[in-house]
Amino acid sequence: MSETFKGSLLVVDDDQHIREAIADYLRSLGHRTETAGTCREAIRRMDEYPFDVVVCDVNLPDLDGFHLLEWAVDNTPDTAVIMLTGYGTIESAVEAIRIGAFDYLTKPLIDDELNLAVTRALEKRKIVEENRNLRAQLDERYGLNNIIGRDYKMLKLYDMIEAVADTRTTVLILGESGTGKTMTARAIHQLSSRRDKPFVEVACGALPDTLLESELFGHVAGAFTGATTDKMGKFLQADGGTLFLDEIATASPSLQVKLLRVLQDREFEPVGGTKTYKVDVRLILATNQDLEDLVRQGKFREDLYYRINVITLTQPPLRERIGDIPLLAEHYLKEFNEQNGKKVKRFDDAAMQAMQRYHWPGNVRELINVVERAVVLCKGDVITLQDLPETLRRDDSTIRGLAARAGAGSLKEALVEPERQIIIDALEANGWNRQATAKALGINRTTLYKKMKKYGISYERQMMGQL
Ligand SMILES: Nc1ncnc2c1ncn2[C@@H]1O[C@H](COP(=O)(O)OP(=O)(O)OP(=O)(O)O)[C@@H](O)[C@H]1O
Ligand SMILES: [Mg+2]
Repeated sequence: MSETFKGSLLVVDDDQHIREAIADYLRSLGHRTETAGTCREAIRRMDEYPFDVVVCDVNLPDLDGFHLLEWAVDNTPDTAVIMLTGYGTIESAVEAIRIGAFDYLTKPLIDDELNLAVTRALEKRKIVEENRNLRAQLDERYGLNNIIGRDYKMLKLYDMIEAVADTRTTVLILGESGTGKTMTARAIHQLSSRRDKPFVEVACGALPDTLLESELFGHVAGAFTGATTDKMGKFLQADGGTLFLDEIATASPSLQVKLLRVLQDREFEPVGGTKTYKVDVRLILATNQDLEDLVRQGKFREDLYYRINVITLTQPPLRERIGDIPLLAEHYLKEFNEQNGKKVKRFDDAAMQAMQRYHWPGNVRELINVVERAVVLCKGDVITLQDLPETLRRDDSTIRGLAARAGAGSLKEALVEPERQIIIDALEANGWNRQATAKALGINRTTLYKKMKKYGISYERQMMGQL
């Protein structure tokens, strides 16, 4: 064992002979070993360097070994302290352990005992370090951890989030309302080295133009009626961190100019002010509108569009990842059970199927509302169709509706669109793995290929359609 764990050690003893004998022995085992003769000297050394293990005599000329131990517990908690006590002084040994010593040994020292104690201390330290790394990894993942979804498109999204997080690149998030744009923006922040600095979100669509400018850039007293005092804007608040601007498509032309400047030069002036502020802000923007189209219509500046369209992340709508619906529903079922002190166990098959067939215009947010409502309404311990809103139950008959609407048309024609949709949904749910999709649909792979060809279904086309 001692072969694998070599540490940096400090031996503290006032008796030079003993001190050097211990140190030589530890060096002979391969540990990098230093020595100190007094408590003060030891503290000075430990202050400068994080030793793995300190071997310390209780009796020291200036302050006793307990003082050093206490100091170590407070200041270098990662360092293991092994106390050396005189023979027969069991009280001080007990006291040492109580204060936080890793171990104690009685003098005269036996080499093997010392070796064993040091090895154990180094092993424990290694385990502590490994645990810490593990926790750090979890922390890192935390941002992504609360995002639920195993659909292929979500996996792609996680990859993108991880890839862009620790850069300063401006990110544009596209997606319908309720698809998780804010969640993604937060995850990017959480996974970046800016995580300890502010994450500031502004819903641009919620404020009239003039107010929005002062909200973002601040204003000086007297800048406009009602501006009685200086106000710090969100850009300054987010300094060092991340600013998330939602509904960016609603920005007025003059705001767009200011945004362009702050993106290019990282500086701005508050409304009505002349002082220029420099900021270090990472920008994430989101919209559910087609910015390219707005550029074509002359409603959104082309230069700004190119500035913000560096990295684009697309949140898939819920209806395009129906495989995730049970995961989300069960997650929020648990949450609302806790909130409402209920013990609803699950959704019955009909309810789950209705949820998977529904088109979810409000996406995950809508699903959360539906689950909450169902938990509250549910009388037994299983959620049934009756606990779902009317719209979902009606949606349940979509296929029958489509067939009815086809009216005079042949049954075959009426079934084209539902069949196409079912195939797309199944492909989505199986990450476009054809083998798995064919299996899920109960048809063979050749039949699936033929149908995909017939309906013009391809992964590329689906992805394009989504943007
Ligand atoms: N993948 C997901 N896993 C778990 N919860 C999610 C997921 N996506 C979204 N949510 C939840 O759904 C709700 C809506 O998400 P969020 O606010 O991020 O969406 P949004 O796209 O920003 O919506 P809006 O367009 O209205 O701003 C939030 O409560 C969020 O926690
Ligand atoms: Mg949002």
